[in-house]
Amino acid sequence: MSFTVAIDGPAASGKGTISRAIAQHFGFAHLDTGLLYRAVGKKALALGDGPEIAVQIARELTAEDLNSDDLRTAEVAVAASKVASIPEVRSALVDFQKTFAKQQGGAILDGRDIGTVICPNAEVKLFVIANAKVRARRRYKELSEKGEKITELQVLNDIQARDARDAGRDTAPMVAAPDALVLDTSEMSIAQAIAAALAAIEGKLSLTANGLD
Ligand code: CDP
Repeated sequence: MSFTVAIDGPAASGKGTISRAIAQHFGFAHLDTGLLYRAVGKKALALGDGPEIAVQIARELTAEDLNSDDLRTAEVAVAASKVASIPEVRSALVDFQKTFAKQQGGAILDGRDIGTVICPNAEVKLFVIANAKVRARRRYKELSEKGEKITELQVLNDIQARDARDAGRDTAPMVAAPDALVLDTSEMSIAQAIAAALAAIEGKLSLTANGLD
């Protein structure tokens, strides 16, 4: 059986935490698609930032590139969002994501365009949001725990600039699919956010299992 869950939303909204918990609960495979763009962005930082170079990097990306240690830094996040606005970079990464989504046993993908472009027929679509200050606080905590020297204000500024670029680009902009359930986690604990996402998926899984959908 293939069953696809698409989770989109802005930076540090809780998509990753929710996706990992859902994958573990249902035994689904999980792909954090942000890592694809982060891996391209990181290599582009090293090799130069012309769009042709970024496209070449995306076409030659390997699984090993996704395991690189330092993909989650603030600097790489900015670079990721810049290369992600290049249409040929995005198209070089589409087939891999679509194949991942259709695998047997269920898959969950999180990113910006999963419910709209990569998996428009996903069985469940969530769009996870939270207000920018809450997101900046969460991301600041993560980054500073890893030893990154950055202020909360810098994180807030980075997140807002990245959201504007991601939502404003022409190709695959970040937007909730019309049939996505919008989950605002601003006032939720991690456990509450996970419970809300699980409930949405359980409902859909039982309909699918009973042949009602
Ligand atoms: O973890 P966080 O939400 O901060 O970012 P991420 O999911 O790792 O994504 C990093 C950047 O990659 C985003 O700011 C987007 O520009 C880009 N991205 C994208 O364009 N499409 C996706 N499906 C996933 C990420």
